[in-house]
Amino acid sequence: MRAFTKVLLASICVAYLAVKWTSPRFDAESLKGARVLVTGASTGIGEQMAYHYARFGAQIVITARREKVLQQVAEKCLSLGAQKALYVAADMASESEPAQVVDFALEKLGGLDYLVLNHIGPSPFSMWTGDVDHIRWLMNVNFFSYIQMAWRGLAALEQSRGSLVIVSSLLGKMSSPFVAPYTSTKFALNGFFGSLQHELAMNKSNVSLSICTLGLIDTDSAMEKVKGVTNIPAYPSSDAALNIIITGATRQLDLFYPWFTYVVAASKDMFPSVTNFIIQNSYTYSP
Ligand SMILES: *[C@@H]1O[C@H](CO)[C@@H](O)[C@H](O)[C@H]1NC(C)=O
Ligand SMILES: *[C@@H]1O[C@H](CO)[C@@H](O)[C@H](O)[C@H]1NC(C)=O
Repeated sequence: MRAFTKVLLASICVAYLAVKWTSPRFDAESLKGARVLVTGASTGIGEQMAYHYARFGAQIVITARREKVLQQVAEKCLSLGAQKALYVAADMASESEPAQVVDFALEKLGGLDYLVLNHIGPSPFSMWTGDVDHIRWLMNVNFFSYIQMAWRGLAALEQSRGSLVIVSSLLGKMSSPFVAPYTSTKFALNGFFGSLQHELAMNKSNVSLSICTLGLIDTDSAMEKVKGVTNIPAYPSSDAALNIIITGATRQLDLFYPWFTYVVAASKDMFPSVTNFIIQNSYTYSP
């Protein structure tokens, strides 16, 4: 059984490498002048994506809730080489503001080549204690605003042969303790946009849709939460951001970052009890 497991995991890794090897090459020039909207761009992975797009010479609109911080990120984008860097503050829990942000970008940039949906609302890292209202609110921020914005931007992306990029998580494929609200919203994203990938393909759409599966990334907010409770390795947000951008630019269906999230996602259905044991023992917790 042990040997069988090893052979299986090795074949999963080989399959992963084969897919990576044959994936299309990234052409940085293709992003020069590209019209990009990045959400959740005041901090973390979104902020790093804004800086990478800026270095590639893109025209960027960024959004998040805090106007002051957005202004600073936009200024840095200009200094890094962005052709344009505009910002608009918005609350993604609102019913109308997500669509207004897309309209703002379409108007200011005269179209859209990349719609990168990345924002998340704050959610406690703790056992669930029955707060349904929080999950309802988080669903608005992490899920409903995504489908509103995707729909609002779709016609423009059809015209430009553009890309829709969804930043999701390993927690959109696999459950884990302490994150019930968050993992619910990510499963919803994976379900919805997985379905949309089929529909776009069946419509022979011009739009590419990438769903990005991320592991633990060393953003301030994530590190704050897992400090002292887990020894799962965290990966650099700047590198995660670059990998997301490349996935969108090369029009791939998915990204697994870091690479072993692919192995974890593939093995959890095959070996549920082993995976559950590992997950439950990767946290320090006593009831
Ligand atoms: C697919 O095409 C149909 C018919 O034109 C349209 O109603 C639908 O919105 C399209 N779906 C997507 C995801 O493009
Ligand atoms: C894709 O773009 C071309 C123009 O580049 C357009 O003629 C075609 O209708 C578009 N496809 C869809 C499904 O909108």
